[in-house]
Amino acid sequence: MTVQVILKGFGEVVKEVTFRVRRYDPEKDNTPKYSEYKVPVKKGMTVLDGILYIKEHIDPSLSARYSCRMGICGSCAMIINGKERLACQTQILELNKDLIKVDPLGNYNLIKDLVPDLSKLFNNHKSVKPYIIRNDNPPTAEYLQKPEEREKYAMFTECILCGACLSACPTMAADDLYLGPQALAQAYRYIADSRDMGFEERLNVLDSKHGVWRCHFAGACSEVCPKGVDPALAIQLLRGVLMKNSFFGYKQVPAPVGKERPTVVEGLKVLEEKIKESEKK
Ligand code: SF4
Ligand code: FES
Repeated sequence: MTVQVILKGFGEVVKEVTFRVRRYDPEKDNTPKYSEYKVPVKKGMTVLDGILYIKEHIDPSLSARYSCRMGICGSCAMIINGKERLACQTQILELNKDLIKVDPLGNYNLIKDLVPDLSKLFNNHKSVKPYIIRNDNPPTAEYLQKPEEREKYAMFTECILCGACLSACPTMAADDLYLGPQALAQAYRYIADSRDMGFEERLNVLDSKHGVWRCHFAGACSEVCPKGVDPALAIQLLRGVLMKNSFFGYKQVPAPVGKERPTVVEGLKVLEEKIKESEKK
């Protein structure tokens, strides 16, 4: 379907591009099809802006997921001209093409059009227990960590759960139960954290036939990650930890606990006393 757009009230148009968008509603359609839309482009316009233009001016039935529109929430990941990208961060003019092909992320079930069902991503993430695990007493103060200890996992904290890496991963395409680059990178992120003691608890899921050994090191995950996370590196580092564990045992040394700080109420009392003392003088 080719639809001409109405340019009224749309600002200064630099060029016109064709959006070829994959449309599919599993509840109604037998097969996916592509629809084409002519979109007027102005400077600074992103692919997400183009999609929203289509929704607003041409076809409100087109479904896409987005939220922050600033590359933070990870909702708008999709395949743009053959590569996984965040639609809100992809400038139309920088693509330098007259045709922009938009597909939903691969390796996921589809809810509709450009909206994948990300349950697999979230469930896999949850399965590696992505939080600090301690087996000592509940903390009475913060755990101490040196800057160089934080450096070991800092890059992996940048993940925004956009799901692009699972879409690009060829192993994911072959094994639907594979944990995937996102979950494995997050498993490494916590295991490498000097405050964590949860290696043993994560071992079963990581050292399974759908776990860390399943990766073929294609590296596609790292190539497409919009936040510069390198899940392929995390997987190799994780393998190193598992190997070390099988030969010598892997021990996590718990991070020391810092000095207890006064509670807010205690702090206010101290402040009150200081004020009273200063008034007496
Ligand atoms: S690792 Fe990168 S591509 Fe994968 S979910 Fe996180 S931010 Fe997205
Ligand atoms: S809408 Fe949030 S990352 Fe694109």
